[in-house]
Amino acid sequence: MSELRIPGATPVAGPTAIQVARGREDVVIGDEIVRHRLASRVIHWVVAVFFFGSLFTGMPIWSPVFGWMAYFFGGLSVCRWLHAWLGVAFAAAAAVMAVVWLKDMVFDKADRKFNVLEYLKFADREDPEVGKYNAGQKFFFWMVVVTGVVILLSGIVLWWPTYFNQALRSISILLHDICFIGFFAAIVAHIYLGTAAEPGTFHSMTRGTVTRAWAKLHHPRWYREVTGDRR
Ligand code: HEM
Repeated sequence: MSELRIPGATPVAGPTAIQVARGREDVVIGDEIVRHRLASRVIHWVVAVFFFGSLFTGMPIWSPVFGWMAYFFGGLSVCRWLHAWLGVAFAAAAAVMAVVWLKDMVFDKADRKFNVLEYLKFADREDPEVGKYNAGQKFFFWMVVVTGVVILLSGIVLWWPTYFNQALRSISILLHDICFIGFFAAIVAHIYLGTAAEPGTFHSMTRGTVTRAWAKLHHPRWYREVTGDRR
């Protein structure tokens, strides 16, 4: 934890929030707190690009209803090989993301009190014990990890179908489809929560910073830990 600027004080030459956010996180700079360092943001967006790449190349293979989407990638046969490779890239990037964020995503006893229905009322009354991530965010993270593994393994079976028996192929089709539909629904909710639902959150994945007010409201324990402010 470090305080590099004091609000209202005469500005002194020193690193800006964006500069600090390249290499460090969980530090206070004036009215801002660095939430995601550059490496975390880059890996998040790499995962997002490969996810949507896999989704949009997979949908025309999945159903003729989405066949028109294949034209954006050069046709259905291009989609077939591109989808497989984008899927591998997605799984690899998600594995790196899992390692980078793992230590912050371990469930603790404060998470037991998390009530998703209360949370979705957006009443702006967060449990004072919510740390850097709330239980919903941790659950989403673990869903990405587990679903990523299942999608990869079932995708490998579908990539080389002749090496596997019919039962395994059928189970793989079912798992692959369930995972991607569930994943898609979760991502829609994730995008809504990260943008329109909670103003100021998207900033954390672009500039890397949030305001002190945002941190105090949404992640009170993290705010206290990072700033030392016990009020
Ligand atoms: C355009 C789409 C996306 C937007 C706008 C978005 C936005 C965000 C934002 C703002 C955060 C930081 C939340 C915070 O600091 O509290 C975040 C975190 C995260 N994102 Fe995304 N994201 C997108 C796509 C994705 C995709 C495709 C995945 C995975 C496949 C993903 C996985 C995660 C995970 C695991 C976290 C940490 C847990 C959480 O905060 O929920 N994101 N995202």
